[in-house]
Amino acid sequence: MTIRTVATTPFAGQKPGTSGLRKKVKVFAQPHYLENFVQAIFDSIGAVAGKTLVVGGDGRYYNRTAIQTILKMAAASGFAAVMVGQGGILSTPAASCVIRKYRTFGGIILSASHNPGGPDEDFGIKYNIPAGGPAPEAITEAIFARSQEIGEYRILDAADVDLDTLGTQRLGAMTVEVFDPVADYAALMESLFDFAAIRALFAGGFRMTFDAMHAVTGPYAAAILEGRLGAPRGTVMNGVPREDFGAGHPDPNLVHAAELVAIMFGADAPDFGAASDGDGDRNMILGRNFYVTPSDSLAVLAANATVCPGYKAGLKGIARSMPTSAAADRVAAALGIEAYETPTGWKFFGTLLDAGLATLCGEESFGTGSDHVREKDGLWAVLMWLNVLAARRDSVAAIVTAHWRKFGRNVYSRHDYEGVDSEAANGLMAHLRGLSLTGRRLGAYEVVVNDDFAYTDPVDGSVSTRQGIRVVFGDGSRIVYRLSGTGTEGATLRVYIERYEPDAAKHHLDPQEALADLIAIARDVAEIERRTGRTEPTVIT
Ligand code: G1P
Ligand code: ZN
Repeated sequence: MTIRTVATTPFAGQKPGTSGLRKKVKVFAQPHYLENFVQAIFDSIGAVAGKTLVVGGDGRYYNRTAIQTILKMAAASGFAAVMVGQGGILSTPAASCVIRKYRTFGGIILSASHNPGGPDEDFGIKYNIPAGGPAPEAITEAIFARSQEIGEYRILDAADVDLDTLGTQRLGAMTVEVFDPVADYAALMESLFDFAAIRALFAGGFRMTFDAMHAVTGPYAAAILEGRLGAPRGTVMNGVPREDFGAGHPDPNLVHAAELVAIMFGADAPDFGAASDGDGDRNMILGRNFYVTPSDSLAVLAANATVCPGYKAGLKGIARSMPTSAAADRVAAALGIEAYETPTGWKFFGTLLDAGLATLCGEESFGTGSDHVREKDGLWAVLMWLNVLAARRDSVAAIVTAHWRKFGRNVYSRHDYEGVDSEAANGLMAHLRGLSLTGRRLGAYEVVVNDDFAYTDPVDGSVSTRQGIRVVFGDGSRIVYRLSGTGTEGATLRVYIERYEPDAAKHHLDPQEALADLIAIARDVAEIERRTGRTEPTVIT
């Protein structure tokens, strides 16, 4: 077997976004495209000789092809070993778990998260550092810079590795260990949550539906919920990972998880419903006839964390992304712990978790997690809810409404305008940046803060600017605007709207009604219709 050095030239646009490099499969499949980026990673993370790398993905189309290339390139670059999930499968949180547990030199995760999969759809790749989290901006910038000057890459000429048989193989001088992608993760979950109590809950007739959306969490959910926790067979639906996610859009929200939503809001609905996304890091939580916003979910889990064995000692702090509602901040204040507000993207939580400043983290985009790994973790959130439900023996709706009575309700909604013309979207953001609204009245509200969110990491001092336009009002209500950093087609404008409602008599109101005046202000201020031609958002969550 020989190592080939292949001459190449840079591709423009190999810039990692909110979570790694995401492009259409057709882009990744061009000769040298993936190879250039992988070599740029290997060239940017320090000496790799003798190190161990974790590799796996969400099982989408092109996963296996990409893994074969990465294995041969890792062998050519001098890695001593690569641990690869059986069948190329590894959920994002399980990858983080394994990277940490075996003290490896990080890992490469192949996923475009919740974006559709298939030959005409999306693919993605990202590097996670030895701490288990997504590479911080300094590293992603270095990878990008390297990709823009690359002249050659190295790859081993070898036959493909058998990804389906557990055990150890050789690839040149390197070892490839194909491992069970579920086992370590399931053991970690069992160490955090009261599995006996959850087993007793199911044994008592508690009913749940988990929608794996034909994506990576199927095997994990089946092994943990139906296996270790004794939930009846059939609790997990759409549980076999498919390369095209069953032609669906594996994003656990009210629009894309329509099948689950119909069950949970239908006759004879189960007690609890949940879904996860393509790579297993997102979650949606539903009760019977009840939707829990991700922002509320974070707050409720934080308020109830100590019923779970892994969090019995209490929380060190709670971190949320800036556009996430401030519901968790109220819990933090009540618990007397610090609340952190970070830019969008899980990578910003890493330093806080590593430094022991925060225990729970969350994003409004269906991301919840803790210091057990360095990624958000869909199934973890589901299990934490199950632990809370087992301890409190109350319904999801009762737990959330009681939470609102105690803390008040941060009424919240996100409006997405997908596939907007990029120039129009950039123009809209430039228009917003040019406004200076502080001190002005908009409808019944007075603007007290209007800025483009900037963040200084309290641990390493790194500064991130231009993280979203904020319009904050005197009563704490907010409108936030930002453009998505994960899309692959046109631009997606996200508008986040929040208002605090202390009056329990109004807690039952539909957020779209309760926020109607702010929604109208948000459209006016940004001139959304005039600039994008859109009269309605594409997705409301
Ligand atoms: C979106 C979410 C963000 C999340 C990211 C990765 O990014 O808004 O919270 O961290 O996906 O799952 P965006 O497309 O908004 O840049
Ligand atoms: Zn994801």
